[in-house]
Amino acid sequence: MRIDGVAKRSIWPGGDGETVEIIDQTKLPFEFATRRLTHCDDAVEAIKVMRVRGAPLIGVTAAYGLAMAMREDPGDAALATAYETLFATRPTAVNLRWALERVRAHLSPLDPSHRFSTAYALAGQMADEDVEINRMIGVHGLEIIKSHASGGGPVNILTHCNAGWLATVDWGTATSPIYQAHDAGIDVHVWVDETRPRNQGAFLTALELGWHGVPHHIITDNAGGHLMQHGRVDMCIVGTDRVTASGDVCNKIGTYLKALAAQDNNVPFYVCLPTPTIDWRVSDGVAEIPIEERAEDEVLYLDGVLADGSVVTPRITAPNSPAANPAFDVTPARLVSGLITEMGVFDANTAALSQLKRNLNP
Ligand code: MRU
Repeated sequence: MRIDGVAKRSIWPGGDGETVEIIDQTKLPFEFATRRLTHCDDAVEAIKVMRVRGAPLIGVTAAYGLAMAMREDPGDAALATAYETLFATRPTAVNLRWALERVRAHLSPLDPSHRFSTAYALAGQMADEDVEINRMIGVHGLEIIKSHASGGGPVNILTHCNAGWLATVDWGTATSPIYQAHDAGIDVHVWVDETRPRNQGAFLTALELGWHGVPHHIITDNAGGHLMQHGRVDMCIVGTDRVTASGDVCNKIGTYLKALAAQDNNVPFYVCLPTPTIDWRVSDGVAEIPIEERAEDEVLYLDGVLADGSVVTPRITAPNSPAANPAFDVTPARLVSGLITEMGVFDANTAALSQLKRNLNP
């Protein structure tokens, strides 16, 4: 996507054939800073503290991390250690495991002297694939947005968290149909859930939509149900960190409540995902998907900017009260109107996803 007319991705090769660069998302929306990752440990740190975040981008960053580990020591033991260290960074987004397994499977049979160059090239290929996958999600999702366009006002779309281009390599998942609809001249307006505690909606999705010129309003996380009751939401579109083989959807905390409100108000609830986000090994999302518990400080403190431009992080809660911070929840398949993938739109159930699996591996 473009910022001030300049094409950008969320991650790109460092130009020296050895490193990779990222947008440091912990600084957004107050500062646009890029950062070079040189060692595997840099990738580990970037994923953990969420300089990069969003399921697809976590996967690509981990692939580069494994590559950089191979530059320093291409032996089997180092490969195993780097794999485990990267795998332990964040537990919920399955794209991390998918990316690490894919790179390891390529590297394991190779002579160690070829491992770094192979892994680095593969990470770049995975980044390019992610861009094309997300473009195709947009192509399929666009048709759904079109079906809601009456010509009598904007299509009002509610989204949660940031499943935009900053969460992927480019385009985003949930935002790809929105950007493509906007570019096609369809009148779209987005309700952006702020997405406490880390405010990915208010900080990142709103920023992206603003860069692209898509009309939007930031809303509190609690406003969606009210807007749906009053006919002010035509559809919800969210991303996901893991979809089970039966169509349960794990996404940023609060997604489940939006899906419940959507069903109660007959508002279609769509989920956009690249097929590597499907975890074919699990079926019951509530029972089987590990939910990340993050630090309580993310709830107790919030970044903000003062009138003089200085960024501050005040405490925003009563003193001495502890906080709990589950970072994801699971929306049962029965609440999902459709899964928008690069392969087309599928019902959220075992039969439809089995068909998708057969399409992927004919
Ligand atoms: O904790 P985050 O910011 O990594 O969570 C991101 C989300 O929940 C996104 O909705 C999901 O990863 C889909 S990204 C295309």
